[in-house]
Amino acid sequence: MERITAVDLRTFLSNNNVEHNLRRLIHQIAITCKYISSKINEANRKYAVSKNVSGEQQLELDKAADQIFIKRMECCAYVKQLASEEQDEIVSVLLPEQSNNAEYSITVDPLDGSSLIDVNLAVGSIIGIHKGELCLKNEHNLIAAMYVLYGPLTTLILSTGNGTHEFVLNPEGEFVLACENIKMKEKGNIYSIGGVKKEWTEKHKRYIEHLEDEGYKLRYSGGLVPDVNQILLKNGGLFTYPALINAKNGKLRLLFELQPLSFIIEQAGGAAIDGKNRILDIKPETLHQRSPIYIGSKHEVNLAKDYLM
Ligand code: AHG
Ligand code: MN
Ligand code: MN
Repeated sequence: MERITAVDLRTFLSNNNVEHNLRRLIHQIAITCKYISSKINEANRKYAVSKNVSGEQQLELDKAADQIFIKRMECCAYVKQLASEEQDEIVSVLLPEQSNNAEYSITVDPLDGSSLIDVNLAVGSIIGIHKGELCLKNEHNLIAAMYVLYGPLTTLILSTGNGTHEFVLNPEGEFVLACENIKMKEKGNIYSIGGVKKEWTEKHKRYIEHLEDEGYKLRYSGGLVPDVNQILLKNGGLFTYPALINAKNGKLRLLFELQPLSFIIEQAGGAAIDGKNRILDIKPETLHQRSPIYIGSKHEVNLAKDYLM
């Protein structure tokens, strides 16, 4: 039987005519995440033997992953800025004299779900790739988005604006194509809901009760990347981290988490809103702005809009 050689990430990008420096940047990010996965594995092993896990140790890993991204981006002459969930301000990763022809900037949530590492649950990294400088209060200039899921397999989900594709890290250390042009169903059957129930608004409660009456199955791990990944790969459903009575913008961050994930899900035929507006139409006022999120299949997202009006 003919052995089909899986297409690796760089070949896939070249075959799909992705611009040269964007191919290099995506490859650099993939290598960075490979290194972060080894640091996570180290931490898993450390926590496995010493059950006294401290919040500071989890924080250390967030910071370590952040520094790994910054150091790697400083070596990429085509990257101008990096904004990270772990940094208060935008970081210029290039010397001023070098940055005039830098074409891209990135946003990173370097490690999402670090509080789950001590219980060996899956975590992820979320990256947005912007053309030019990062601009607040403007239309987004996202031209690609990706996330890496550090689970039983390390997988990479990517969109450069032409569909959403999944790559898996193989034993040789290459990300190879696992699923091209993932398409979500119009309507799914799982829901993933964050936030403490007693803090939900009445309208949100009625929406969730409707999904439950319809027989949706609850799938929530507390890790944004595996939770959304399941909605994407189980062909649909809904993830929400809503506005709460005491936190009207919810918990999740627009630039670092929600806009990259929305870019990916929309490219797979899904949708993402804050309850009313399309996530990708929101112009962030501040770097760390949070937003409620309803993301997944079109049917469930449109229904959320109707309930939340
Ligand atoms: P981060 O680790 O980057 O701060 O993100 C954690 C987020 C996200 O992973 C998840 O959806 C959410 O926290 C879960 O929040 P709750 O613990 O309130 O459910
Ligand atoms: Mn996060
Ligand atoms: Mn994080």
